[in-house]
Formats: sequence, C-alpha cells, structure tokens
Amino acid sequence: MAKKQAKMVIDRDFRISPIDKRIYGSFIEHLGRAVYEGIYQPGHPTADKNGFRQDVMGLVRDLNVPIIRYPGGNFVSNFYWEDSVGPDRPRRLELAWRSTETNEVGISEFSKWCKEVGSDVMMAVNLGTRGIADACNLLEYCNHPSGSKYSDLRISHGDRDPYNIKVWCLGNEMDGPWQTGHKTPDEYGRLAEETAKAMKVIDPTIELVSCGSSNTMMPTFPEWEATTLSHDYDYVDYISLHQYFGNRFNDSKNFLAQSMEMDRFIQTVVSTCDYVKAKKRSKKDMMLSFDEWNVWFHSDAADEDTMKNRPWQVAPHLLEDLYNFEDALLVGLMLITFMKHADRLKMACLAQLVNVIAPIMTETDGPAWRQTIYYPYLHASKYGRGIALQPVLSSTKHDTIDYTDVNDIDSVAVWNEEGEELTIFAVNRDLEDAIPLTCDVKSFEGYELVEHIVLECNDLKATNSAKGETVAPKQQTDTTVEGGMVNAMLHKASWNVIRLKKK
Ligand code: AHR
Repeated sequence: MAKKQAKMVIDRDFRISPIDKRIYGSFIEHLGRAVYEGIYQPGHPTADKNGFRQDVMGLVRDLNVPIIRYPGGNFVSNFYWEDSVGPDRPRRLELAWRSTETNEVGISEFSKWCKEVGSDVMMAVNLGTRGIADACNLLEYCNHPSGSKYSDLRISHGDRDPYNIKVWCLGNEMDGPWQTGHKTPDEYGRLAEETAKAMKVIDPTIELVSCGSSNTMMPTFPEWEATTLSHDYDYVDYISLHQYFGNRFNDSKNFLAQSMEMDRFIQTVVSTCDYVKAKKRSKKDMMLSFDEWNVWFHSDAADEDTMKNRPWQVAPHLLEDLYNFEDALLVGLMLITFMKHADRLKMACLAQLVNVIAPIMTETDGPAWRQTIYYPYLHASKYGRGIALQPVLSSTKHDTIDYTDVNDIDSVAVWNEEGEELTIFAVNRDLEDAIPLTCDVKSFEGYELVEHIVLECNDLKATNSAKGETVAPKQQTDTTVEGGMVNAMLHKASWNVIRLKKK
C-alpha cells in the first residue's frame, strides 16, 4: 500500500476569488431555546438591561459573525411580524415546532442585539401562510425612512432610524412537504418573482434570496432550482442551499466523506443556475447562499418524543445536539468546501448559533459554553478572510461505503493580501495515521510560520460541556517553513490551521 501523504502547491496567482465574509454567517430561529433562554433571558446573572445574556454575546462576538439569518427557518412560514413589534405582543401558536411564541423578542430587539454583537440581519419573509403584501409591509417597516404607514409605525414604536436590512430571504424551504404553505416549483417561482419585483420597488438596494432545495435528497432536486429560477431569475440575487449531515450508522469514515456530497451539491446548483442563465440569454450570474448547514442528528430521537408528547410550551428543549469531536472535523471540512467555492458562494449560515444545533449552548442557571464545532467555525471566520487560493493538492485516497476516492487530506489556503498573511486549513480524515503534508509556498517569499493550531482528540465521540472543554485547540510545534516549503505532520483525525506571515 502506498505511504499515506499529501503534497500541495499554493501560488498567489492561483486565485479562486476574494472570499465574501458572509460565508461565515449564522442563523437564529424562534425555535426551542435559541432566542428565549438562549440570547435572551431576563433575570439571568449576565443579562443586560434589555434582558440579553452578555455571556452569550461575548462568545458570539468572538466568532465575528458577519450576518445572522432570522427569524426562521420553518418558523417564518407562519410568522405574523406585526405581533413582534410595538407595545402589544400577543402570544401565538407557532406551528412549525408546536410551541407558544411570546413575541417578547421581535425585529426591533433582534436588530439591536445584532448591532451589539457586530452582525447584520438577514431577514426572511413569510411566503407560507402569507404573501406579497405582508413582505412589502415588513420591508417598509424595516427599511423605509419615514412618511409612510409602516415606516411611521416603526417610528411610533421608538425606532427613528430604519434597520436597513440588506439581505432578504423569500420564504424558507418551500419545496418541503413539512413547510406550512408548501408549494410546487411553479407556485413558488411565480410568488417569489412577484414578491421580489414589489420589494425591489420599495428598496432597490436590497438583495434577495430565492428558496432552493432543502437538501440533495429532495425528489424535486434539481428540477426545483431550474423551474423556480426560470420564473424569478431576473429579480433575485441568490439561490439558497440547505444541507445537514449525520453519522446515523456510526461509520465515521463515511461520515467524514460527506463534505464531498456538499461539494457536488454546490456544483449541481451552479450548473443549474448557469443553465437557466443560458436559457434566458441573461448576463447575470446567480450567486449561492448556503443559508443552512451543519451536523444535525443527535437530537432526533429526543425531539420526536418531545414533539408528540408535550403540551404547547414556551422555549421547549428542541434540536439540542450535543456535538462530539468528529462533528467538529466535518464542520471543518464543510468550511473548506465553502472556501473552495468562493467564486459563486457568497453567503452561508451555520445553523444555528445558540442552543439549537449550535456552537454555543447555555445553562439556564449557569454559564454559556462552547461546543466542539465552535472551534473550526471560529478559526475559519478569524483567519479565512482574504483571497481563496486553489490548492493543487495530491493526497492519498480511500473509499467509504458511499464515497470513492476520498482524499485523506482536504485543504485550502486563504491569502490576506493586505495583512500579508497566508493560512492553510487542512483536515486529516484518516482515523488511524498521521499524514505528512508538504506544501510549496515559494511564491510567498519571506513568509514565515506564525503558528500551527490543531484540534485533535483520541476519542472521536468526546464532547464539551458547561463543566469543561475536552475538545479545544492547541499549538503544534514541530511544523516548519524552510526554502518555501511547509512541512507539517497532520495528526490522525485532526483539524489544522497553519498560519504564515511575511516577516
Ligand atoms: O434549522 C432547523 C430547521 O431546519 C429550519 O427551521 C428549517 O429551515 C430546516 O429544515
């Protein structure tokens, strides 16, 4: 058997594209304990005067999340935004997650919270139970300066300045039979087209996201994309992709190969967009917004039970996946995949941010803490800004039950031209062996090693908790940069961030 190894060439001229920082976005839905007991918990020892937990804010700020999708998700498809603004906040039956929504936190509170943590809002409109008029009214409420019914209503609620929300999602997962107001591709395409047209009259500066498929297994994928875009292509700026993975059969090798499926998904959507572009003789390239992605399966059984057997309840424990070390590796691989598609992928949202399939968890009577997946997300957001460089990568390979020719090492490099920093992100998917990586960086003359950060753990199933972090990054000290070559030993099952800077 060939000795396991990986060789890579990175060159400043091998540019994929500048990375849009919004690929490090996230998502907060009115679901479970994401909002209530997540970001908002009046009475908690760390709560500020508005009831927002400052321990959570601190961890979100560290992640430097550029944009946060809100308020759903499936929740949005029966959302009555008027209930979430102004002095009267009725309690409503929330249909997607069978919960009671108190509406204590609404658009005004959420936009203020986003400002506090340094993020922009990505707003979704309800195209499930509602339509064009309500989307327009909401946009007028949020973005119009004054002098109209809904902008003046906002001002009467105490918010003189418009929220100026730039990115708007036209509904959520409208291809899914589980969605309230689920639609056929033609029904959705027409509605999205007309809604987009009207919204852009109110505010021509906004960017719109058309709903793509909920995952690659949907029977309508990719016909959904072709049909819906044939209606709304000229009026929208992005198409959305959603995908969650899980290690349901406890086959870690196969689990870690799943980022290849994400790669194929992106390629297929790009091709479908380009097909519609050609059909329409359009000059515009449709961009991609991967606005829900993560590992999601640990909480499935518990949630099935909770959904059936509980009364209507405020902030039930739902989708509270406890992430282990191998989940962090797959999250790292998915982030590498995004960087490689920086030319067409302009936004992505880790779903979600707090308590619900999230990197940040809260104890009701205790602190906020970091799950394993927090770390690759942190590193990518922190060091993955700049120009994505196409790595010429040759790695030994393996097969898994569902995938063939899986690279043992997957990697990408990002060049921060201004800061004169180069970062190599790499995952060793091999579960048995450390694999040497040699990387030619000769075109980066004078660049020296800053650090090699590694996330590794002997137990793939290790998790963190409020009591402590079993999975946390450390420094690897045997990596060298000599004669324009990086030599690094990538430990078995590891996430690696190798940082270079010009001296
Ligand atoms: O993120 C959890 C749920 O997953 C969202 O509400 C929905 O859009 C998707 O199915």
